[in-house]
Amino acid sequence: MKFKGRDIIDINDFSKEELLYILKTARRFDPQFVKKDRSNYTIAQGKIAAVLFFEQSTRTEQSFRSAAQKIGMGVIGFNDPQSTSIHKGETFADTIRIMDSYADVLIIRHPEPGSAKEAADIAEIPVINAGDGSNQHPTQTLLDLYTILKEQGTLDGIKVAFMGDLKYGRTVHALSIALSHFKVKQIFISHQDLAMPKEYIEILKKRGVAYEILTKIPDEFKGINFLYQTRVQKERFKDLKAFNKIKDEFILGKEFLSQLDKGVKLMHPLPRINEMASELDSHQNAIYFSQARNGLYVREALLALVLGRI
Ligand code: CP
Repeated sequence: MKFKGRDIIDINDFSKEELLYILKTARRFDPQFVKKDRSNYTIAQGKIAAVLFFEQSTRTEQSFRSAAQKIGMGVIGFNDPQSTSIHKGETFADTIRIMDSYADVLIIRHPEPGSAKEAADIAEIPVINAGDGSNQHPTQTLLDLYTILKEQGTLDGIKVAFMGDLKYGRTVHALSIALSHFKVKQIFISHQDLAMPKEYIEILKKRGVAYEILTKIPDEFKGINFLYQTRVQKERFKDLKAFNKIKDEFILGKEFLSQLDKGVKLMHPLPRINEMASELDSHQNAIYFSQARNGLYVREALLALVLGRI
């Protein structure tokens, strides 16, 4: 399996074996599986990560910064392109060419679908897609898979429900495809205007994956192991009236505590707005904050792998 020098652009570029190898590598950085006092600081000492965020982020940017520093890397970059020479009219391509010569790996978030691939075509060094518009967010998918595997002990023989914005939610699209490698029944719960796009359903059909589509929140989540709740992505709507009509239809209030009590584990890529009541947060089956923490271990693993240091 070759990871050194590889771009991480699209979850579809990875085989089932490669996905499992990345998840296995992430365990080496997770204090739940290794001694807490073990330092990984020498793994990538002397290497530089360039964090190029053309769109806002908390988790992805800060966990990549933290992951890079935990394995000994220096970190450069920006999260406000207007503070760079882009403000003076410098192109995306020239910005990538310049950063390519200052770093050993580029980590890019950009609102435009396809931008990470464009950067990878220009750069000599590995490029990691940290989210390109409504297209892909592969490192989120990997941390979602890691979380399910860590919680359940397996990725086979389970049921995963997705809820909320299944149309624009890049995390849902990529996780659904990644889970299609395993024996997972997938359930899609949304307003019909935010339904899972047909092209993803077609992939599931071709791969013989069992799935179900619901347009109402079920009273019971019986047999569902994980509910992956998502935010309705206001920023992707052209018509705000349509957003306001739909935005509050698939939210989880404190009454969802009864489902958590029955064993459903609640995930969310975060940030959340109002789609999960804060009363759910302290329940042991509300796992969205540990899910975000898992991103650190997965990103440490990915950086070490693409640098050929592990
Ligand atoms: N989940 C996620 O990508 O969060 P951020 O937008 O804060 O990075």
